[in-house]
Amino acid sequence: MNDDRNQRVVGEFTRQSDRYAKAPELNDEKALEVLSSIAGVCASDTVLDVACGPGVVACYVARSACHVTGIDLTPAMIEKGRELQASQGISNVQWRTGDVAALPFSDDAFSLVLSRYAFHHLRDAHAVLREMRRVCLSSGKIVIADVCLPDDSIIVQSFNRLEQLRDSTHVHAFSASEFQALFDKAGVRITQTVDYHVEFELENLLAGSTASEQTKETIRKEVRESLQNDRVGMSPTRRAGQVRISYPISVFVLEIL
Ligand SMILES: C[S@@+](CC[C@H](N)C(=O)[O-])C[C@H]1O[C@@H](n2cnc3c(N)ncnc32)[C@H](O)[C@@H]1O
Repeated sequence: MNDDRNQRVVGEFTRQSDRYAKAPELNDEKALEVLSSIAGVCASDTVLDVACGPGVVACYVARSACHVTGIDLTPAMIEKGRELQASQGISNVQWRTGDVAALPFSDDAFSLVLSRYAFHHLRDAHAVLREMRRVCLSSGKIVIADVCLPDDSIIVQSFNRLEQLRDSTHVHAFSASEFQALFDKAGVRITQTVDYHVEFELENLLAGSTASEQTKETIRKEVRESLQNDRVGMSPTRRAGQVRISYPISVFVLEIL
């Protein structure tokens, strides 16, 4: 089952690799700076970027860190990371292809282990966090940035249903209390949190989706119905004839207990 699931992830993210690497929303320098500064990246840090995708975060934090390793399941994403690294002339980043449910690194290998916009794609988020904790020095930091929904069961259900319809690799976006339960179970504690939103034009997102036209119409309808009173957790707005949706992101800095 894991193999099927991983093949689906690789297929979908290979298809999307170019779009992801170029998406302005994912390359936004302000959001990268928020992550880097709250993580307190410094010159002595050895960093692991978990499910690094096209390497945007890995290359950004490499400016301040001693060394960065990016790991991702999708070879096409790692290729994008290498291209970005070459275009920026960075020498302190290396790449691995692999499943982050079993990180191919020894215990305590990194001082900072981070992951951005990936937890909602993971079949077993707890197993991945346990691995992140294992490879992180006990005095180090773990940083997770991802969608974090309000603790409202209707919103959590609707958000995840719509995202699963749009994106076959979407597993589950967590609410704040679900994240807390995940952290408690893994033996890590939040020391700092910062929240921001990432905004997309709905039609742009749907253009990258392999969902049927009928399914896309269902998504449009539910999002439009939420324009007045958000029941899908995407804070939709209409501007200049476009419907825009906004993903609520939390960045959690975690210490190991
Ligand atoms: C939305 S992208 C996030 C990319 C990147 N972290 C960023 O912030 O730009 C999610 C990434 O998770 C990767 N991924 C999903 N499941 C994975 C797994 N089990 N092991 C490794 N990578 C995985 C996908 O290949 C994809 O590149």
